[in-house]
Amino acid sequence: MDGVNGLFVTFEGGEGVGKSTQIRLLAERLRNLGYEVIVTREPGGSMGAEAVRHVLLSGAAEEFGVRMEAILFAAARNDHVEEVIKPALKNGAIVLCDRFMDSSRVYQGITGNLEPSFVKTLERVAIDGAVPDCTLILDMPAEKGLARARKRAGGEKGAEPDRFEKEELSTHEKRREAFLDIAASDPLRCRVVDASLPSDEVAEAVFVAVENLLPIRLQKEKSAETVA
Ligand code: TYD
Repeated sequence: MDGVNGLFVTFEGGEGVGKSTQIRLLAERLRNLGYEVIVTREPGGSMGAEAVRHVLLSGAAEEFGVRMEAILFAAARNDHVEEVIKPALKNGAIVLCDRFMDSSRVYQGITGNLEPSFVKTLERVAIDGAVPDCTLILDMPAEKGLARARKRAGGEKGAEPDRFEKEELSTHEKRREAFLDIAASDPLRCRVVDASLPSDEVAEAVFVAVENLLPIRLQKEKSAETVA
């Protein structure tokens, strides 16, 4: 996001691609380098947005249609942006966010069949200028990701697949393609990372993608320390 001191990095991709593990590993590495890192997620991440999260993931909003769901995702996102993301960036932090606007473009826009103009308008209002500096698209075959997501859900006591995980494999494949299309159409912002590689190799690719973007102000402070 221009005009702020921090760095805004989002992680996107289908179900079970390992976003949360990779965010944790990147956060650890950046903190070890002395950066202030905020880890957050969508839907949720702020009090208002967490209140809406359950409505969306339980499927309670599903019967009211995809427009309603899209507006709820946008409402949650706007609260998250204004209450958490923008203040953190203003303070010079690195914000790592598990899913953001591209998830709405893909889940509500492409596989929800919403009109592109509606999706665009909602996005503009929701993010209010907070465009990620870098988006890492973790990519793997949908079948593999879903199997991992289901295994994870089975391992968590009582965890059921959520409203979106339940959908058909062809829908998940369509989402994978849609994320890759976004990356191809916005190569300056997006990097595709092969998430089927071993976790440490994925982590290295993620770090390399972010390394050159690390806030210059902090880098200067760090090199000054090294000289002293
Ligand atoms: P979550 O439990 O956070 O899991 P994960 O990100 O690991 O898949 O579930 C979020 C679900 O919500 C996921 O299926 C994608 C969906 N989603 C949307 O449909 N639109 C959005 O804008 C966002 C942020 C998420």
